[in-house]
Amino acid sequence: MSRKPVQIMETVLRDGHQSLAATRMRIDDMLPQLEVLDNMGYFALEAWGGATFDSCLRFLNEDPWQRLKTLRKHITKTPISMLLRGQNILGYNHYADDVVEAFVSKMVEHGIGVIRVFDALNDVRNLEVAMKAAKKSGAHVQGVCVYTISPYHTVESYIELARQLVERGADSICIKDMSGLLRPYVAYDLVKALKSDPKVGVPIQLHTHYTSGMGSMTYLKAIEAGVDVVDCALSPFALGTSQPCTETMIAALEGTQYDTGLDRSKLKDVAIHFGKVKKSLAEDFKLKTYFDVDANVLDFQIPGGMLSNLYNQLKEQGMEDKYQDLLEEMPRVRADLGYPPLVTPTSQIVGSMATFNVMLGERYKMVPREVRDLARGKYGKTPKPVAEEVREKIIGNAEIIDYRPADDIKPQMDLLRAELGEKGYANASIEDVLSYALFPEVALKFFSTNR
Ligand code: CO
Repeated sequence: MSRKPVQIMETVLRDGHQSLAATRMRIDDMLPQLEVLDNMGYFALEAWGGATFDSCLRFLNEDPWQRLKTLRKHITKTPISMLLRGQNILGYNHYADDVVEAFVSKMVEHGIGVIRVFDALNDVRNLEVAMKAAKKSGAHVQGVCVYTISPYHTVESYIELARQLVERGADSICIKDMSGLLRPYVAYDLVKALKSDPKVGVPIQLHTHYTSGMGSMTYLKAIEAGVDVVDCALSPFALGTSQPCTETMIAALEGTQYDTGLDRSKLKDVAIHFGKVKKSLAEDFKLKTYFDVDANVLDFQIPGGMLSNLYNQLKEQGMEDKYQDLLEEMPRVRADLGYPPLVTPTSQIVGSMATFNVMLGERYKMVPREVRDLARGKYGKTPKPVAEEVREKIIGNAEIIDYRPADDIKPQMDLLRAELGEKGYANASIEDVLSYALFPEVALKFFSTNR
């Protein structure tokens, strides 16, 4: 039996609570267990990026940069991994190249070891600057294939994307299945193809969510196909809309050729601690932290958290009887708009368009600016062109952006620094300028009580 140990990336410090507790975990909730987690032997600890930056400033009165420094102080052996939205950094629109470069350089300086970088449309042009800056900083650069299902997304298209990412310097490839759509046997084929492609030739990591109830099966088949790393969450923050469970995955592989070598018994007290944290977050922030399996996602591809948001929006308008219509409208809008994968920010864009269509009883009568921007190519290239008649209806003959969208954005750092100076923060650190760049109002409010 040839040994092929599988590695685990632990997500309890980022995606686990982002998925199950609205990203509300505080640094103080993490501190008591960081040393044990650091000594486990994980591939990495995912602990920063995604929605945590916004949440720190907006809800937790924490400086996200300070959080990173504190994490690094206590996590000294294991790389800290973070999730970056390419040219969107950790925000919702494109930023200038100099902001992307400064952000990447600062986060690596403060302790990020693995940068997982994705673009919602899988448009590699939107990843180029971030990947280049990440390479320069010396971090491990993980290029992402955002997984979705459409007539235009095939194993071959993902191989091609992975090759492009490797060409641009990716040290590894992550398949990011944010809604739990990746089926076990498809995962097997996809991983097998990626692992055997000579032009890919880097480790493959798999990230799924348990939303549809398939996650563990998908991991097992991916492991049999040779996947190198799987993302798992410690039991209190596993399953539901989060990742498959760390302890279960370790146990499932014990004594096999895939044995992770991790000592499950060391996680018992850690799990008790984070179980209490989950309870306290639910109480302190009045959160729902348990989610049923949602088989609807398999048909509609709408991530779990988003379904409840859409339902509540309709309910506020007294239109909850339109819920089924909305579920069916989402995939139609997605097809019209060129089959974008549904992940931040495209999930919100498609969701709001579908909601308008259903509420107004006429399709594309009212069109949010973001939808027009998507149709114009302002977010990058959609997997397939926007449907002709829809394009005409929503943007007429407006010029299509067929180059890298951020080429239109002039350098911003000096302007932002000057703006902050006018607001009374003349000596703002680069970190503060970056916080302000991403979330101006939220950052100013934070500075007003913390600077
Ligand atoms: Co995720």
